[in-house]
Amino acid sequence: MISKQTIDKIFSTIRVEEIVGEYVQLKRAGSNYKGLSPFHEEKSPSFVVSPSKQIWKDFSTGKGGTAISFLMEIENFTYPEALRHAAKKYGIEIEEDLREISEEAKHAQTEKDLLYKIHEVANTYFQEILWDDKEGRSIGLSYFKERELKDDIIKKFQLGYSPEKKNAFTEYALEKGYSKEILEKSGLSIFPENTPAGVDRFRERVIFPIHSFSGRVLGFGARILKSNVKTAKYLNSPETEIYHKSNVLYGLNQSKQAISRKNGCLLVEGYMDVISLHMSGIENVVASSGTSLTTEQIKLIKRLTENVTILFDGDNAGIKASFRSIDMLLTEGMNIRVLLFPDGDDPDSFARKHPQEYVEKYIENEAMDFIDFKAEILLRDVGNDPIKKAEAIRDIVKSVSFVQNALKREVYLKEVSNKFGLSEQSLFNELDVQKQITQNQTHHVQQQQKEKAAPKMEIVPPDKEKEDPFLFDVLFMENKLVDHMLMFGDIVLKRRNENNEEYQITVIEEILHHFEEEQYVFLVKENEIIIGQVREGIQKDELRSGNFFVSFMDEEITTKVVDALIPLDELENWASRNIYPPNYGDKVADQIKGDILLHKYRYIDYLITETAKELDLHSNTDETKYYELIKKITLLKQASIRLSNIIEYSPIKGIYVDRKR
Ligand code: UTP
Ligand code: MN
Repeated sequence: MISKQTIDKIFSTIRVEEIVGEYVQLKRAGSNYKGLSPFHEEKSPSFVVSPSKQIWKDFSTGKGGTAISFLMEIENFTYPEALRHAAKKYGIEIEEDLREISEEAKHAQTEKDLLYKIHEVANTYFQEILWDDKEGRSIGLSYFKERELKDDIIKKFQLGYSPEKKNAFTEYALEKGYSKEILEKSGLSIFPENTPAGVDRFRERVIFPIHSFSGRVLGFGARILKSNVKTAKYLNSPETEIYHKSNVLYGLNQSKQAISRKNGCLLVEGYMDVISLHMSGIENVVASSGTSLTTEQIKLIKRLTENVTILFDGDNAGIKASFRSIDMLLTEGMNIRVLLFPDGDDPDSFARKHPQEYVEKYIENEAMDFIDFKAEILLRDVGNDPIKKAEAIRDIVKSVSFVQNALKREVYLKEVSNKFGLSEQSLFNELDVQKQITQNQTHHVQQQQKEKAAPKMEIVPPDKEKEDPFLFDVLFMENKLVDHMLMFGDIVLKRRNENNEEYQITVIEEILHHFEEEQYVFLVKENEIIIGQVREGIQKDELRSGNFFVSFMDEEITTKVVDALIPLDELENWASRNIYPPNYGDKVADQIKGDILLHKYRYIDYLITETAKELDLHSNTDETKYYELIKKITLLKQASIRLSNIIEYSPIKGIYVDRKR
């Protein structure tokens, strides 16, 4: 865990305009910056950054937040990943908070950190050897050059070389103070009984570092250069505390932005396929690296896109792997297209043979949907054998049965029926049989997914709100008051009490006081959380207003706060047109007083209708309850009338005012 102090330091050091500026071209617009939304294709800018408030808002998608939430959005980082990234950029040392963690977990944490560290050290070492060492250059670098890789792409993927000497890296790491134990655990070194100096696992191979989603080195793949040696072509890191190969996709770190931008992901088999496609300008590509695709890997892709195109070798192994991947991807709700390369080509060789545009077009035009693809392969050598043909169709329908969405499933089934001239009914029957088989296999997974997808507790279901105008009105005012607190919370208002004596009160206190006086029950969960925090703040003598909540760790709250802090007005470049928007802050005192009254008024109306509903329920059953409710309604109505006598709409001020003053 990153310590609280470090998080505070990160937030106080980083500048939203600098972090966003790395991804969006920003232009000054008054006190803000404006630019084109990085999340949405657009021609006129709807993306605003406020340097004074240290927040951003994207009006085209409604997203908004801090520099950290921007990194989470654009890089698909988790919260701690974004914090670590920002800390690195600004040279802030991360202090880990290990206080509340058990001894055992502490040990595991430090061990994990050490594993990350040793991989970083090794990664730098292998690259230095490749670029600066005589053997590295003449063997490693020239191998990559032979495969036509350019310098910048070798650097982008941080490729390296591990020398021939048996323990070159092990010796280097031991000298730097890393223990044999950690070297062994990382899989980088092996210490056989009779060789205390150790042996490098990857010696005499070129090195492909494997990165996490956020760019940390988790392990390595290493390719042999000699072709006459009888050993695996690629050696990979073993499973360690930080490297679980079923959770990692090669190239994801380098490709994630392009995948997101293009809303599509190419899936290939090998390291070199990823690298060659990148070199030819096609950057939305990842590899499952020799393992068959796993659910965890698909979920990583799904963070970025639901569209996957499988690009596999046309050999038997490639076809088999693609069939398995198809069913896995369908189960996870992905849309799939498949392309097998011709004549012994793989994506690597194909990308090197043809220019970018040709490759892109080829993928675009030749990739088939999974039904056509399976049909083509399966019917290849069926001839006129009806039994074999039925077998093939059954195989295709089996894949369809993995599609989770019923509507999509039906569309696919129609396609199969058209393609083979079979009645939909008979296919439906077959589908049912297949579904029963696959359901038994996937039931457990689905159940887990359902639990995860369960909606967050909501106090007001959205439909109810639309139907009930009283509820809608009070909700509207509740939101407005909370927005006021966020926007003007620390503004000090001058008020007079009943004896006409002047007193001072902050906006936060005045609105909070109102909520407490009414014993108001919040209808919106986020508001309740915000007010809870504000109360806690008051007890600690701090005013928690907008800026406090902007860095709050809850996405919905951050969005709400940012919406309040950058109202739509700011999108318009008022200053450049020499006109200025009405300054909301100037009339804040009147505005808040009026809005509190109006909220109170609407809340009472809402309570009246709610009590009337309750009355309906009890009219025939419980006499005491019945009269109690009648009395409550009468009192509420009196209060409502009293209020309606003092509230008046002021068309000049454009707000509700207290008629008496
Ligand atoms: P390939 O044999 O297709 O290798 O294996 P490649 O990527 O085309 O490699 P080059 O072009 O010969 O250099 C595909 C992937 O399977 C994994 C690697 O991740 C490889 O990129 N693999 C293959 C292994 O892990 N070990 C092996 O021995 C072979
Ligand atoms: Mn290859």
